[in-house]
Amino acid sequence: MSERRLMEGIGTKHRRFACTVDELDKGTSMTVPGDIPIALFRTDEGDFYATADICTHEEWSLGQDSDLEGNEVICPLHMARFDIRTGRPLCFPATVALATFGVEIIDGNVYVLG
Ligand code: FES
Repeated sequence: MSERRLMEGIGTKHRRFACTVDELDKGTSMTVPGDIPIALFRTDEGDFYATADICTHEEWSLGQDSDLEGNEVICPLHMARFDIRTGRPLCFPATVALATFGVEIIDGNVYVLG
């Protein structure tokens, strides 16, 4: 039985395989490589969200090294916080939103759309 779920976002041009659902633990993240690296997050509730991988403040990979609290990602370099559902910055020093991307789950595989 296939599960198909689409979360709307921008940059939905190409479907890119990220991982299987079971490969990304709840409360963690990963970077999906590509022309535009994408950070894929899985919340404690099990929801998947995707944003641009690089913090908008300076160069830091949020998919590889960040803290996830609920629907907020914290960049460890200068402690900026973003809402992973919208990309919106929640505190300084970040003032620019992260781009967001759609996530699709098909037959236990997770894809980012961007
Ligand atoms: S690089 Fe992310 S807060 Fe500065």
